[in-house]
Amino acid sequence: MIAPSLLSADFARLADEVQRVADADWLHVDVMDAHFVPNLTLGLPVVQAIQAVSPVPLDCHLMIEAPERWAPGYAEAGARNVTVHAEACRDPRAVARDLRAAGALAGLAIKPGTPLEAYLDVLPYFDTLLVMTVEPGFGGQSFMSEVLPKVREARRLVDSGHLTLFLEVDGGINADTIEAAAQAGADVFVAGSAVYGADDPAAAIAALRAQAAGVRG
Ligand code: DX5
Ligand code: ZN
Repeated sequence: MIAPSLLSADFARLADEVQRVADADWLHVDVMDAHFVPNLTLGLPVVQAIQAVSPVPLDCHLMIEAPERWAPGYAEAGARNVTVHAEACRDPRAVARDLRAAGALAGLAIKPGTPLEAYLDVLPYFDTLLVMTVEPGFGGQSFMSEVLPKVREARRLVDSGHLTLFLEVDGGINADTIEAAAQAGADVFVAGSAVYGADDPAAAIAALRAQAAGVRG
């Protein structure tokens, strides 16, 4: 699945920007609070407005403190998947339970330096694992290939039946990097600048999807 990140869109024209990626699988929405990451983007009222006009299911990536308090609101707003950061959660299992109870898929995100091992006991309660392939906070950064062993490890756990998860990668995904990420086992690819920076976002989505599908055979 290809999930264009709205972070690289024109924030003054969000309704139009959503339509430009109407054939995407998920629409990735980066929520930042200027505390968990050194950047501030948008919050629940804007997500509700996007949800009302988006033909694509929303994938909310919450880079915020206290996700226990705020994450369920995004699920109640109708997001398909809501992802919280492991580093910000005191009780990831409780967040997953609340997200699922509100009708969303529950996602857990880990930063490049966060090991998978620390969260193996809570991952059975989640539907999505988002492996950050840049430090969270900004679009347009370079892909960190050193994170790929973590994707491979997660893929092994899924393929062996120990976990059932979408494996999402986020950060620096473009025509040069998506095949390595697909090879490592990712199945959801977030792309911000590679989609919204293209002259034709729909063509960019189709090209990325074809590249990833080619790897998976
Ligand atoms: C970064 C965000 C990403 C960002 C990706 O913190 O989580 O979703 O939009 O942008 P690109 O694809 O440009 O790296
Ligand atoms: Zn993101």
